[in-house]
Amino acid sequence: MSAQDMSQGTPDEVPEIGPYVQGPEHSGFSAAEIDTSRPHPARMYDYYLGGWDNYEVDRVAAERVIEVHPQVRLSARANRAFLRRAVRALTADGIRQIIDIGTGIPTSPNTHEVARETAPGTRVVYVDNDPIVATHAGARLTNTEGTGFVLGDARDPKALLDHPTVRELIDFDRPVAVLLVAVLHFVRDDEDPAGLIAALAEALPAGSHLVLTHATGEPYEAYEAGRTDERARDGVVNVYKSATASLNLRSKAEIEPLFGPFALLEPGVVRVPLWRPDGRVPGAEELNNTIFYGGVGRTG
Ligand SMILES: C[S@@+](CC[C@H](N)C(=O)[O-])C[C@H]1O[C@@H](n2cnc3c(N)ncnc32)[C@H](O)[C@@H]1O
Repeated sequence: MSAQDMSQGTPDEVPEIGPYVQGPEHSGFSAAEIDTSRPHPARMYDYYLGGWDNYEVDRVAAERVIEVHPQVRLSARANRAFLRRAVRALTADGIRQIIDIGTGIPTSPNTHEVARETAPGTRVVYVDNDPIVATHAGARLTNTEGTGFVLGDARDPKALLDHPTVRELIDFDRPVAVLLVAVLHFVRDDEDPAGLIAALAEALPAGSHLVLTHATGEPYEAYEAGRTDERARDGVVNVYKSATASLNLRSKAEIEPLFGPFALLEPGVVRVPLWRPDGRVPGAEELNNTIFYGGVGRTG
């Protein structure tokens, strides 16, 4: 992709902003309300990534997923690597405001850390609907100026966009990047994932971007003997049925239209390791075992 594809003006145009820290203490939520009786996708994902912010119930569920799909940890890492490459591509072309929806438990480097490697002024609002993420966000995501956290739900884009933290940090007259990385597969068809993206797009100025990854049960190419994709897919979906959010795997043909008004940038929707790899291009087996599709789109 050329620089013009994502060109958004200069970082110098972003006015200075003072510290604005909105942690869980502002969200009406208390740590005592954390549910440790059921697996939480955020904590399971933390376990896949090798983190420590998970409970026994999460580890047991995550191990059941790993049993049927041993490469889930590789997939989670490939997903994070995609996020980093996508954010670097955005900031390289001038994006200085990011709303990261479905943030997850903080994992270094976090979105603002990646963006600020090259664009120190970048503002980032993190959004997640899991209280456990909120408890970690205060200390690890909003301890620096120009970042904030909102305990909010992707399925209610209006409330999210109207939230005071979002309004304080994001200038809706300038291009914004919205990240929906590994979150939309927790939104069911009847909750209208395409509709929520359309609602976000409507609030954003031309030149805004959507960074999206989505889990799939679709094989990249035929599996070799021994383990079928169907077994892995059904096994993974079944584990998440006991969790706080069910898993809705979608095919590439179902994921592509989710971009809606965001025109896909090169190379389109691909298995995440294939999105502008900055090193070795992965082989077929690695791609087959990477359960995430990803892409970046742009409005206007
Ligand atoms: C698999 S983690 C992904 C974390 C991070 N985006 C990444 O890709 O590394 C999914 C996150 O989405 C959050 N999530 C799930 N459904 C959500 C919703 N409807 N609104 C906001 N966050 C949601 C979960 O709580 C979890 O933290």
